[in-house]
Amino acid sequence: MEILFDKNTPWPEMSRDEAALSERLTKKIRKEIDTAGGRIPFSRYMNMVLYEPGLGYYSAGGQKLGAAGDFVTAPEISPLFSRCLAQQCAEILEHIDGGDIFELGAGSGRMAVDLLRELEKLGKLPTHYLILEVSADLRRRQQEMVRHQMPGWQSRVVWLDELPRHPVQGVVLANEVIDAFPVDRFRIDDGEVQEIGVAVAGDDLVIDLVPAGRHLSAAVHRLEELRESSFADGYESEICMSMPAWMASVGQCLERGVMLLIDYGHVRSDYYHPQRSRGTLLCHYKHRAHEDPFFRPGLQDLTAWVDFSELAEAGAASGLDFAGFTTQANFLLGCGLEKLAEDIAGDDLGERVELARQIKLLTLPGEMGEHFKVLGMSRNFNYPVRGFKLRDLRHML
Ligand SMILES: C[S@@+](CC[C@H](N)C(=O)[O-])C[C@H]1O[C@@H](n2cnc3c(N)ncnc32)[C@H](O)[C@@H]1O
Repeated sequence: MEILFDKNTPWPEMSRDEAALSERLTKKIRKEIDTAGGRIPFSRYMNMVLYEPGLGYYSAGGQKLGAAGDFVTAPEISPLFSRCLAQQCAEILEHIDGGDIFELGAGSGRMAVDLLRELEKLGKLPTHYLILEVSADLRRRQQEMVRHQMPGWQSRVVWLDELPRHPVQGVVLANEVIDAFPVDRFRIDDGEVQEIGVAVAGDDLVIDLVPAGRHLSAAVHRLEELRESSFADGYESEICMSMPAWMASVGQCLERGVMLLIDYGHVRSDYYHPQRSRGTLLCHYKHRAHEDPFFRPGLQDLTAWVDFSELAEAGAASGLDFAGFTTQANFLLGCGLEKLAEDIAGDDLGERVELARQIKLLTLPGEMGEHFKVLGMSRNFNYPVRGFKLRDLRHML
């Protein structure tokens, strides 16, 4: 994830195809708003701009990740990320005498390839590497990458259409997946909870405020109870209403082993801090971050940070145990980042400088090191998890 706010540089031109795609999606959204009586919830809008088949950001064919895309994730920044994760997976698989790895939302497939390569070196390959990917376009890209970079491995890597039917023994992984879940947005006006939805005004998609329905109101009041104070007038934020059910269903797939969820996010008290009064929703377009969700629908990414307290509670409610919670920097260092970097650093000065740059991006507090957290939840697994050994922050959840 790279954040660069820059309001003065003009936006890059869209190609004719991009403009047509965005126009088609916008028309579809306007039609849905019309059919729904003039407005749709923000979560429905976000779902359409990200996942509408053939048109949404993740569903259409554009380049999303990497230098030519809109944002960069940790596995794309450096293979060291996946190699560290591989050390962790190897340790878990060793404790349970082998098993599978199940990755959700595999993006370009980079993490799967680098992780498997490292596990092969360690002699700890999983029986299967399962991938569940909602985007048909990304699934095709992942299959291409595995075919090109790991010929002969296709039978080990299995793409699923739904959650695994057979219980998983091993490791469940999701890197920067939950931040891509649609969120509902709210605003407090005159002490009342308003739902921020989407409507049409003239040619434009616009924000629309109505008194929040029962579910959203209850969720906001629950947050107020937990923080022991009401939100001030004008306070805006968001809630990912689908996340607890997702956590429960994915958690139920794990029979024995550890689930590692990596994302940018906060514990609840930081997420809903009075000073964070505009929420965390961000849009990414060509490596620039901004706050306009109606900019070029379908061509930009929309994300919201993850409430790790909620995620951990949902995991515990589905019977999972805590394996640990820490920052990405602590996790990678706990998995042996420094030693791995030393092992691959050659004599070439340019390469060493590049490696140092990658490590900084992954670990510095102002980069991904502290914004990103790792939550570990486990089932039938009573061993320490090395990524959490440096600093386990679960007491903060
Ligand atoms: C921001 S990208 C991260 C990709 C990759 N994990 C990485 O770190 O480079 C989000 C990914 O999650 C996928 N995704 C979103 N919701 C999902 C869900 N409910 N189940 C599985 N994949 C999902 C997207 O299609 C995309 O591949």
